[in-house]
Amino acid sequence: MKTKERIERHYGTGRILEAIKQGLQATGKDLGNLRVDDVSDVDEFHLGGRVASEHFFPKLSLQPGQRILDVGAGIGGGARFAADTYGVSVTGIDLTSEYVQAGREISDWTGMSEKVELNVGDATHLEFDDASFDGAFTMHVLMNIENKATAFAEVYRVLKPGSVFGIYDIVQRDPGDIAFPVPWADEASSSFLSTSEEYVSELESAGFNVEKVEDRYEFALGYFKMVREKMANAGGPPPLGIHLLMGESAKTKLGNVAGNLEAGLISSCEFIARKS
Ligand SMILES: C[S@@+](CC[C@H](N)C(=O)[O-])C[C@H]1O[C@@H](n2cnc3c(N)ncnc32)[C@H](O)[C@@H]1O
Repeated sequence: MKTKERIERHYGTGRILEAIKQGLQATGKDLGNLRVDDVSDVDEFHLGGRVASEHFFPKLSLQPGQRILDVGAGIGGGARFAADTYGVSVTGIDLTSEYVQAGREISDWTGMSEKVELNVGDATHLEFDDASFDGAFTMHVLMNIENKATAFAEVYRVLKPGSVFGIYDIVQRDPGDIAFPVPWADEASSSFLSTSEEYVSELESAGFNVEKVEDRYEFALGYFKMVREKMANAGGPPPLGIHLLMGESAKTKLGNVAGNLEAGLISSCEFIARKS
């Protein structure tokens, strides 16, 4: 099966927008008058959601008016957060067409369509000119990409010299087999976890200077504990959450992430790299 087909089959549910609409309505949100923050419980599809973004984005040195690339933008939560918070224009690409369609609609609802452009695209083959972006970021995408070196080389190519590339990803921590399914893959053949040392080495081989690596293991553990307690108190998942993006097996996938974290097999990690 081709990569795009495999990824779309994994992430697409056929009813993402409908599920988000229902979730927003159940939480009393007015679809005709939505702010970026109103959607953040569901559109930031990475460990720690908005809380993790608020920790990650300040390190990207974003300045108003810059043109920024979001590699694997999903339904565009990170892109809208960056555009709304820092006044940058964001171009997001993602392999899953259903996410791109849903993301465009949510940008319309939140009045962000002029600042955020979402298109179908592949991180390992970026359809942009050399040196066309002032910065780039990617969150929780590279676990789906076997050939990270190609993606890093592509991001390096499209960045202007001196630009920052930030990565927030799940990495392999201790050696060992993780439990599946997880939110990014149903089985081992679709999951390509690397250690943080491997990320650094491949970023450097692509030409980047790696300025900062921050392991977020304790944060990740604490975040899952908090989510579990919240769900136990509420008697189930909230109407609006990233489980809406994970289909029928959402509960198992999230449980496996928690188990893999507790076993010390995975961690979340930030990397800040710069094109010299
Ligand atoms: C867990 S989601 C993260 C989405 C988004 N970055 C966020 O944090 O909300 C992973 C995303 O990576 C995308 N993806 C996987 N492989 C890709 C590739 N080769 N090129 C572009 N996008 C890819 C998937 O379609 C999916 O939307």
